[in-house]
Amino acid sequence: MSTPFPEGFLWGGAVAANQLEGAYNEDGKGLSTQDVAPQGIKGPITEVPTEDNMKLVGIDFYHRYKEDVKLFAEMGFKVFRTSIAWSRIFPNGDELEPNEQGLQFYDDLFDECHKYGIEPLVTLSHYETPLHLSKQYDGWVNRKLVGFYERYARKVFTRYKDKVKYWLTFNEINSILHEPFMSGGIYTPKDKLSKQDLYQAIHHELVASATAVKIGHEINPQAQIGCMILSMPTYPLTPNPDDVIAAMKSEHMNYFFGDVHARGVYPGYMKRYFREHGIDIHMEPGDAEILKHTVDFISFSYYVSICETGDSSKRTQEGNLIGGAPNPYLKASEWGWQIDPQGLRYVLNMFYDRYQKPLFIVENGLGAKDVLVTGEDGVPTVNDDYRIEYLNDHLVQVGEAIEDGVEVMGYTSWGCIDLVSASTAELSKRYGFIYVDRHDDNTGTLERYRKKSFHWYKDVISTNGQSL
Ligand code: BG6
Repeated sequence: MSTPFPEGFLWGGAVAANQLEGAYNEDGKGLSTQDVAPQGIKGPITEVPTEDNMKLVGIDFYHRYKEDVKLFAEMGFKVFRTSIAWSRIFPNGDELEPNEQGLQFYDDLFDECHKYGIEPLVTLSHYETPLHLSKQYDGWVNRKLVGFYERYARKVFTRYKDKVKYWLTFNEINSILHEPFMSGGIYTPKDKLSKQDLYQAIHHELVASATAVKIGHEINPQAQIGCMILSMPTYPLTPNPDDVIAAMKSEHMNYFFGDVHARGVYPGYMKRYFREHGIDIHMEPGDAEILKHTVDFISFSYYVSICETGDSSKRTQEGNLIGGAPNPYLKASEWGWQIDPQGLRYVLNMFYDRYQKPLFIVENGLGAKDVLVTGEDGVPTVNDDYRIEYLNDHLVQVGEAIEDGVEVMGYTSWGCIDLVSASTAELSKRYGFIYVDRHDDNTGTLERYRKKSFHWYKDVISTNGQSL
């Protein structure tokens, strides 16, 4: 039997600091936007951290990472995607000197990964701007954030030069369109934020991202630095040309981010959009040159596809993560996310045809309510056949895309160990191969248990995808 997956394919799992580390106020860490968002994107921002915020403890990865990395190694991970909590390194975000204890934690974590031959893949900013930058500067609306981010990026690139080869600049950078506070640290409420300020903030992030690529390469010419996009392949709801154009326009809103990262210039369709919406992006001298520092690879998350239509009465928020109209051919997860494995093959082909750069799937997975049972050996486990089916179907489509000629560097399934959900802040929306005994009512022992999918993924990795 043969496998389409190339030798050296980077199999692994992905997490984000704020969703699992906990220890939100330990060892000099400052507050981040996540520490005051107890209900994820569903609820209000609080003045101070409140006990109902599951992220304050997370799954206590900060203290238990050795046990967890060992379990990842047991599955055979080649790569582990995590993020650095910016406010562990610069607690307020605008100080001149970093917090040594924060830096030391990631030194230890990366060393632990290397002990097992696991390569870290590190996101610089994953939905957790230092709270001070959000409150005092209105997050990325303010140009000063570019300088603060540059200082932070320079520090961690230098410190981990010999430990981290793969970097991502901003998690799901295009999600700022939908969640300006969580994604861009913008304190102005979404309904009061002007398009002018939103796109100015986006410009600042794009300049910061290109700056990171530039300095990252100066510090370590071997570094591979990518962007990270929330991918949502958008199908026309019908063959009606109105629907086709609506789908194209919706795709443009997301392609914009990949286009700038991969091509180094603003695309024509965005210039038109700015003209027609009275948006005038302020560019500093040098911005156009900086944007030419394009990424080494394109990474993305993939959970759902959506449909678009020119008929606004058919559009709904239900059934999909963000906008669009439900696809009548697809089933949905318990949280209404429509499941479309072939959409992954489609999006891989679309990105590759557009950019001709290596692609990295850095998030994909199924959030589900798991039930812990006693296994044959007497040890608790979860019979998560639904997760195995989901992941298997998607990975088969990754294989198809590789057969299509797409260059895929690796695959890190989301939430390889149960963690707190970003959108709903629940722990009961579980993605992991490893069950964590913690519950939404704050109870639980924090013990870890291998699910059935743990053994399944181990086989996938050890056979380099042949077992799919
Ligand atoms: C992505 C984010 O949007 O989806 C992750 O990068 C997030 O942070 C993941 O956890 C799954 O979403 P959720 O809301 O189910 O946690």
